Amino acid sequence: MKKVMFIAAAMAICPAFSQSTLKEAYADAFKMGCAVNSMIVSGRNARATELILQNFNAISPENDLKAEVLHPRPDTWNFQAADRYVQFAKDNGLWALGHTLVWHNQTPDFFFNHPDGTPNTHDEMVEIMRSYIEKVAGHFAGKIDAWDVVNEIIDNDGSYRKTVWTNAFGGDGDEVVRLAFKFASQYDPNAELYYNDFNVWRPSKRDGIARMVRMLQKNGIRIDGIGIQAHWGLNFPKNEYITAAIDTFAALGVKVMITELDVDVLPLTKEGQVIGKSLQEPFYQLEEFEVFLDPYKRGLPDDVQAQLTDRYRELMQIFYDRRDKIDRVTLWGLHDGMSWKNGYPIPNRTNYPLLFNRDLTPKPAYNAVLKIPSKK
Ligand code: GLA
Repeated sequence: MKKVMFIAAAMAICPAFSQSTLKEAYADAFKMGCAVNSMIVSGRNARATELILQNFNAISPENDLKAEVLHPRPDTWNFQAADRYVQFAKDNGLWALGHTLVWHNQTPDFFFNHPDGTPNTHDEMVEIMRSYIEKVAGHFAGKIDAWDVVNEIIDNDGSYRKTVWTNAFGGDGDEVVRLAFKFASQYDPNAELYYNDFNVWRPSKRDGIARMVRMLQKNGIRIDGIGIQAHWGLNFPKNEYITAAIDTFAALGVKVMITELDVDVLPLTKEGQVIGKSLQEPFYQLEEFEVFLDPYKRGLPDDVQAQLTDRYRELMQIFYDRRDKIDRVTLWGLHDGMSWKNGYPIPNRTNYPLLFNRDLTPKPAYNAVLKIPSKK
């Protein structure tokens, strides 16, 4: 009797308690994914692990499959954390992403330069990429469902970004992308192969990505999907840009995924994504800037919480309405305490971008998102 009363009380306080979980609510629409870290994979944060298993049927590795972790030095390979991630997915029947093979960040310098600092030749670069993908995609072949093969290589204007990878190939980004997808399909023929990027809602960037995908298709090189990272804010991007990006990519005949969703609520970055180190200048940590840039250290005010709820509701409604075109929606972390948004682009802030609070209780946004599929 006591137990029944407890459950009834819990249902009244916490509507999520009485309803299904995210993966159940969206079962007819798309996979629901979440980025995980070693605290979750190891079970050291048991409640977080439990919430992941209840709510999600797909996982992404936040950092453990990046080059700086797998291959930090020329003579060192380090697969322990990555193997634990893959085992966690297998033990729990979760769809698992590999993230990411070719990216300019979190990739050691020896990929691009000789020990004396001179750059590798073109042929050396081709071999470095080939052997890295052979080792990594080969290691996980049959254990990982898909790879983000190339991450973030297109610029705002739709051209290739000037990164360590494109520079190393003399600026020929098409060659970087062609080789990366060719090697990935060669060494893990059964994994799906994706391109992943941020700010892809920007029409010029979106069209640059579409051109790149058509270039691969014309060359007979397999690409199975495009990931829209979705590091967004309360006030950006405009919803019509989001829907146009989804529709443009779906028209290419590839899967479309929302891969790294979070919603920034803090000044400046809720209005647009700031890339780079400009806001890491120490003077932004001075009292007068800190008061402005980091206003919710002691908790999120109700009015901002309501805006966050509305934003998640409208975003997930857009995705649900386009569920025939969307294969997966992945949040970039479970709870606010683990989000990269507390440290980037401005260090030491208190941000609130995800669906669970730091104490692992669900936010109003969680409950709003849960209800969307049942609304007719
Ligand atoms: C990009 C990368 C992710 C992650 C985020 C920040 O979006 O794709 O792997 O590093 O930045 O956490």
